[in-house]
Amino acid sequence: MSVGMKSVTDRLRDSGLLRTQGLIGGKWIDAYDGKTLEVHNPATGEVIANVSCMGGKETKDAISSAFDAFNSWSKLTAAERSKGLRKWYDLLMAHKEELGQLITLEQGKPLKEAVGEVDYGAKFIEFYAEEAKRVYGEIIPATLPDRRLFVLKQPVGVAGAITPWNFPLAMITRKVGPALACGCTVVVKPSEFTPLTALAAAELALQAGIPPGVVNVVMGNAPDIGDALLTSPQVRKITFTGSTAVGKKLMAGAAGTVKKVSLELGGNAPCIVFDDADLNVAVNGALAAKFRNSGQTCVCANRVLVQEGIYEKFADAFSKAVKNLKVGDGFGEGVVQGPLINKAALEKVETFVEDAVSKGAKVLLGGRRHSLGMTFYEPTVLSNVKSEMLVSREEVFGPVAPLLCFKTEEEAIHMANDTNAGLAAYIFTNNLQRTWRVSEALEYGLVGVNEGLISTEVAPFGGVKQSGLGREGSKYGMDEFLEELHLFITDATNLNDLLL
Ligand code: SIN
Repeated sequence: MSVGMKSVTDRLRDSGLLRTQGLIGGKWIDAYDGKTLEVHNPATGEVIANVSCMGGKETKDAISSAFDAFNSWSKLTAAERSKGLRKWYDLLMAHKEELGQLITLEQGKPLKEAVGEVDYGAKFIEFYAEEAKRVYGEIIPATLPDRRLFVLKQPVGVAGAITPWNFPLAMITRKVGPALACGCTVVVKPSEFTPLTALAAAELALQAGIPPGVVNVVMGNAPDIGDALLTSPQVRKITFTGSTAVGKKLMAGAAGTVKKVSLELGGNAPCIVFDDADLNVAVNGALAAKFRNSGQTCVCANRVLVQEGIYEKFADAFSKAVKNLKVGDGFGEGVVQGPLINKAALEKVETFVEDAVSKGAKVLLGGRRHSLGMTFYEPTVLSNVKSEMLVSREEVFGPVAPLLCFKTEEEAIHMANDTNAGLAAYIFTNNLQRTWRVSEALEYGLVGVNEGLISTEVAPFGGVKQSGLGREGSKYGMDEFLEELHLFITDATNLNDLLL
């Protein structure tokens, strides 16, 4: 282990945040067969830790713990649940630096960005600590004078939360925050690539006084864990962020026990730069939308559509800006582009670039593995990209910006919507009427106008078409963990009088 990594892991161990076992019913537990799996630092390939490699049996026990805990957690007052969440938020913020280091270690993103993720992730807990107190029902005007009709919002029950590696903290808090606020309990399955941040966050939830069994964490054999969550009648909700292919399987699997499902799946975000855009704003916005987390987010710009009048100027200024992005180990000074998560991700990016070049795309910048080795890839800009190329059809999930040229607004809208995905889109224009017209014509769940970073805890996040179901964040994120109970009350005294 390198000296740098050792000092980071020692510090994390000292603060009790380097957890390697699963959490079931408030106890840290090894896999029942003693199996472990290695967690690697993608920047160096070093093993950071060996964590319990769990499966179906441990998941069933985690579900039972969550089911038992649901009885008491759901009966607390909203104010009591809110207090627990607020304390958890305070602890996440108090350990912001260590959690950021843990994210950089196991996920690879630059430290500044990782600490930014802790801020972003913790804010979901803060927001839902507040929102817990606002689960309002309704009174419906009754159809007869002695009847009263109410709608009560009830927690759905145990939720299974399956989360990805690209945001090891924020994708957990975005699910667990509203679940707990509503009175649900959870079994979290973090990615096998990045379980350490999830375990550290769970440790802080325990320290915050969130009762045993309310938050459980199992990781290891993904198909077995997924199967246990899907088939259990005690799990009433599945919430997932990840690929569209896996999301479809989960949706089908959840049908067996008719669970509530919310899915945040892949995107193919268009970033449309119109002739009337401010060039600097467009370059900076596209840079942020494309290269956040080295291109590994579902909302990353996947296709940059540029109008013919500004195309050359934009391509030139954008390439210059991309050239300045410093690549390296996320702990390095000034680094803004880390490694890709693994070899498979690197090979995917390579395949997409090769496909584009073989079909006539021109490499303006990058276009190959980085000299640093490992899974580093050069920030890349491709021009002369066409809609039929792989880079335009599918999510590249890497630091590759393909530039496509268009002539008219109608053509841009058609190109942007010509995909099964519908998560995020970006437009750059100074024309107010065009802003409305294009935003409303785009078949997307999120649209950024003159802005490349649009994710926030206070607004709904989610896609249309095959990018998913449901919304996370904001007040709308609460609905995903609630059921409406229709309460019909008849005035029995009055009824008895009538019967006598
Ligand atoms: C994602 O990539 O799934 C989430 C991105 C975000 O929250 O901004």
